[in-house]
Amino acid sequence: MKILGIESSCDETAAAVVEDGKYLLSNVVASQIDIHERYGGVVPEVASRQHILAIIPVIDQAMKEPGLTWQDIDGIAVTYGPGLAGSLLVGVNVAKSIALARQLPIIGVNHMEAHIYANWLISTTLQTEEDKVRFPCLCLIVSGGHSDLVLMKDHRRFEKLGRTRDDAAGEAFDKAARILGLGYPGGPAVEKSASNGISSYSLPRAWLRDSYDFSFSGLKTALWHLVQREQITPGDPRVVDVAASFQAAIVDVLVTKTSNAARDLGVRQVLLSGGVSANTALRNGIIDSSPVDVLVPPIRFCTDNAAMVASCGYYHLSNGETSSYDLDILPSLDFTGAR
Ligand code: KG4
Ligand code: ZN
Repeated sequence: MKILGIESSCDETAAAVVEDGKYLLSNVVASQIDIHERYGGVVPEVASRQHILAIIPVIDQAMKEPGLTWQDIDGIAVTYGPGLAGSLLVGVNVAKSIALARQLPIIGVNHMEAHIYANWLISTTLQTEEDKVRFPCLCLIVSGGHSDLVLMKDHRRFEKLGRTRDDAAGEAFDKAARILGLGYPGGPAVEKSASNGISSYSLPRAWLRDSYDFSFSGLKTALWHLVQREQITPGDPRVVDVAASFQAAIVDVLVTKTSNAARDLGVRQVLLSGGVSANTALRNGIIDSSPVDVLVPPIRFCTDNAAMVASCGYYHLSNGETSSYDLDILPSLDFTGAR
């Protein structure tokens, strides 16, 4: 079964075709990073206008590269939330139009659930049984808008264990990069700077005992005070050590909480996903300390893409779950399906 995935929840316009939930036939991502860079963050109005310009050429490319026609497609999966309203609208409306015109099933997909399915795409390149997802598994989804710990018992069966109470991990990286003058997007910039430094500054970790929730706003404030107190300005040679200390604080909390939850719940695997899971310190940290096997998606499937949406859509469709042609966006859709 071949599914066309469409993703436009934030600042990437993406389309991909995936066969049977895992075999990648095409994966096209038009990034708007260059456009938003000058503002230091995503400007929602600009993002939706860019999606309008890019979406048709991106879908065309995703269909043409593997030489597919609409007769080859069995369904269209599209992100309908969470995300920026004006951005989501573009993907959902285009998906609905094509589905209606071609009389194809449409599958509305939760962006956070889709991130998890980046881990199914790896089975295209990995051969052994051990590389396949085994339930129940624990999913750490860390992106620009969310930091969620979710117990996945099977396809479509989730239990949310923890979430961020304030800033998401990616948002914290982005704000730290701003404070340190490292540019946008912040995560890769902080990681690059940190690779030249050592974690020599003491920064706080919010452990929130007896809870799987996260909190990163205190760390961000502590970073701000450190920079003021030590009079560290962009370009200062100490920036690399501050970046390394900041990254270590975030990774420490994510790794410790995830490993503890995996132990407490007796899961068979840990699955990483979301933009922040591209971070090498986080990937290595979890692999080193998890009590069970860890799956990490290839870097290109960590940040927003439509292959993960198509894979997720395949498991909905296989389960007989489709949306109606009046599918609407839900910008604040929660992981559990609540708004
Ligand atoms: O999943 P994603 O592409 O979009 C959302 O759904 O939000 O995640 C984007 C976030 C940004 O905050 C970005 O700074 C962060 O992921 N990120 C990273 C890295 N690459 C992207 N954070 C830390 N280290 C990285 N290498
Ligand atoms: Zn995302």
